[in-house]
Amino acid sequence: MDKEVVGKRSSGIASHIYPKRLPQMKAGPITDEMGFTLSERLALRQAWNLIRPFERRYGGDIFYGFLNDVYWGINKFKDNGKLNMKALHTHALRFFHFIGLLIEEKDPVVFQLMINENNLTHSRCKVGSDYIVNLADALVDYVLQVFHEISSPTLERGFRKIVEKLMSSTDQQPINTS
Ligand code: HEM
Repeated sequence: MDKEVVGKRSSGIASHIYPKRLPQMKAGPITDEMGFTLSERLALRQAWNLIRPFERRYGGDIFYGFLNDVYWGINKFKDNGKLNMKALHTHALRFFHFIGLLIEEKDPVVFQLMINENNLTHSRCKVGSDYIVNLADALVDYVLQVFHEISSPTLERGFRKIVEKLMSSTDQQPINTS
């Protein structure tokens, strides 16, 4: 008789004999489709509920602090050589708000679409992936520092995963500092 058939039959019989095989164990914490554990998700959502009222202030602190180091970035907000203050201030809020929207998004497809769309915008503006990740890192460091009293390793892991998601989706783009 065919070896494969014998194998199948015996495993069929084995399933009726006691003691039964234990179901395969999944080691480690269970993650959702986006790679977050339940506690990371919860920690991120709870933290963002506290952060949300300060979006404008924190967004400004982080983005303008970032531009102090990455000074060429300000050129991206110039129209015909003149600084577009409205666009600059709007970005300080929108980049921060965007991270909040990612945290709240439950659908993995929409989550990925949001990241792709954001990458497209920055490719068009010739903003390199490294800089997107640097700004996201600055946001995480800032928030963890401001909320150090309620911060936890779980919250930090959750935030670092958000940065990883931005990184893994942007690392095919060229770096451009012009
Ligand atoms: C975590 C990193 C970042 C996030 C989440 C983010 C988010 C956003 C969002 C939500 C928009 C608006 C998109 C739209 O209108 O459809 C935007 C536009 C833009 N971003 Fe970012 N951004 C990030 C990093 C950066 C960096 C590092 C720069 C360069 C200094 C930059 C430059 C721009 C520019 C030039 C625009 C277009 C602004 C305009 O149309 O007025 N972004 N970004």
